[in-house]
Amino acid sequence: MQGNDINILAIETSCDETAAAVVRNGRDVRSNIISSQIELHKLYGGVVPEIASRKHIEKINQVIEEAMNTAGLILDDIDAIGVTYGPGLVGALLVGVAEAKAISFATKKPLIGVHHIEGHISANYIEHRQLEPPFICLIVSGGHTHLVLVKDYGEYEIIGRTRDDAAGEAFDKVARAIGLGYPGGPKIDKLSKQGNADTIQFPRASIEGAPYDFSFSGLKSAVLNYLNSMEMKHEEINRADVAASFQEAVIDVLVSRTILAAKDFQMKQVAIAGGVAANSALKRSMSDACKENGLEFYCPSSIYCTDNAAMIGTAAYYEYIKGNFSGLDLNAVPNLKIGER
Ligand code: KG4
Ligand code: ZN
Repeated sequence: MQGNDINILAIETSCDETAAAVVRNGRDVRSNIISSQIELHKLYGGVVPEIASRKHIEKINQVIEEAMNTAGLILDDIDAIGVTYGPGLVGALLVGVAEAKAISFATKKPLIGVHHIEGHISANYIEHRQLEPPFICLIVSGGHTHLVLVKDYGEYEIIGRTRDDAAGEAFDKVARAIGLGYPGGPKIDKLSKQGNADTIQFPRASIEGAPYDFSFSGLKSAVLNYLNSMEMKHEEINRADVAASFQEAVIDVLVSRTILAAKDFQMKQVAIAGGVAANSALKRSMSDACKENGLEFYCPSSIYCTDNAAMIGTAAYYEYIKGNFSGLDLNAVPNLKIGER
């Protein structure tokens, strides 16, 4: 460690992962500890907010300690504490925010509140040292589907968003309908590899006057209708074909709208982020489309696509160098808008 290194301890508890990380100088991940609650929530087919908050409380200290030990640092070596303060489940967010405030108060180190989606976008900086703004980023997670113009570090303009379900939500709902369980995204990803995406023509919704917006609720209903009608006719359902055809319909709109936005806004670089960015077919399609259109494509490794604290540490670093600190009155904001501080 050198004297001018900036070490950030980052905490993320917005949904069902209790996570802590130490990130040096923005892009060097010294530790990235994630305690997932997926096994617990599986029983209920989705995240149960009350259970999530309780589990965060149980795990948070242990996860932070492990992050510090793995990084080989003590709290004295830390320059700031970054924490997700929204959007997310309020009870879950509060655990991380309260913890970060307590550490900040006890150590007199600055506190930096981070927007969860800005964290997801920043995940792209970790493994791509050459990536610098401006670029277009498609954020696709369980709660969000946004097309964002990343103008500079910490400077964002939302140019497109979903009008109803998030892409990950559609994956999870369709997975449940075909009996795959929670979380559905990775299961649909895997099953689709054995299916034929051309079997069923599911709709690709577009919204008049909003070329970069998305809508997935019609697609979800179309899948449910298809399953019902097959059942009524006593015909056998090929789940792999349904999964592959559904996945293809989601990917088609995600890729075409992202490429259109990149061209319209004259961006040379395209990035994707969020849990659904871990989808192997989405990565392949987006990468191919970028190649065809002469665009650079960036995507984090799967571990940095789904919720983690390293991405929060990276986003916090760029706020740190701008001197954007939060007060000890920082609160959880469940519906925090991107770009707001
Ligand atoms: O970013 P994330 O971990 O949490 C939120 O901020 O929402 O995203 C979770 C979402 C879930 O809906 C999950 O089904 C989806 O990401 N997901 C995937 C894949 N891995 C996770 N969706 C499609 N393919 C995957 N391989
Ligand atoms: Zn997330």
